[in-house]
Amino acid sequence: MQPLRGYRRPAPGTQPEYLHPPYGSSLKRAPTQALISIPHTLSEITGPIFRKEIIDARACDLTRQGKGAPLGERITVSGRVLDEDGRPVRESLVEIWQANSAGRYLHKIDQHDAPLDPNFNGVGQTFTNDEGRYRFVTIRPGAYPWRNHANAWRPQHIHFSLFGPAFATRLVTQMYFPGDPLLELDPIFKSVPDEAAKNSFISKFDWATTTPEIALGFQFDIILSGRNATPMEEW
Ligand SMILES: [Fe+2]
Repeated sequence: MQPLRGYRRPAPGTQPEYLHPPYGSSLKRAPTQALISIPHTLSEITGPIFRKEIIDARACDLTRQGKGAPLGERITVSGRVLDEDGRPVRESLVEIWQANSAGRYLHKIDQHDAPLDPNFNGVGQTFTNDEGRYRFVTIRPGAYPWRNHANAWRPQHIHFSLFGPAFATRLVTQMYFPGDPLLELDPIFKSVPDEAAKNSFISKFDWATTTPEIALGFQFDIILSGRNATPMEEW
């Protein structure tokens, strides 16, 4: 039997530390003992396959899911999902969720004193195409307070969830906006030690995908783990 090819582990410094004391929740969540590296098996190098029929045609356009247009600055968010070797991640589910333009989520736990928008639920889904490209139309989210420390405000951000081809490539991350003054005050953004990795969370304003009269364009490419170059010897 052929040995299984696992996926690469993240390079040191490119992922947020589990324990980052300025981010209060990490104190409760971080492992207290050294991690144990477990070899990838079939459970990790395979994953769920989602059929396109599971999502509504309007799921990629968060401005058309209500009875009317949501309030706020309309934007497009698009990019490519690639693996570490530059290969497109094809026909793969990409999901987003975000606050509305006033900085409030449609969720019962969010009691921020800001208005809900009856025409915006803040949830989107789409699939990458054959080139790994995806595109959402949405509203620029507002900043919101989060009580992590005195006068704490999250920078504007959009949450992303990706599966890729296997559970080992699953990624939940956040996209930020260029020039946001809150970035350097945000302990979640600053929890990534590597400067280049940290900056990869910031989308780029993109004139080429800005739609005249309609929406500013932002580009956000996402890199998922690549396969190991040589077969792993262990199961
Ligand atoms: Fe958030």
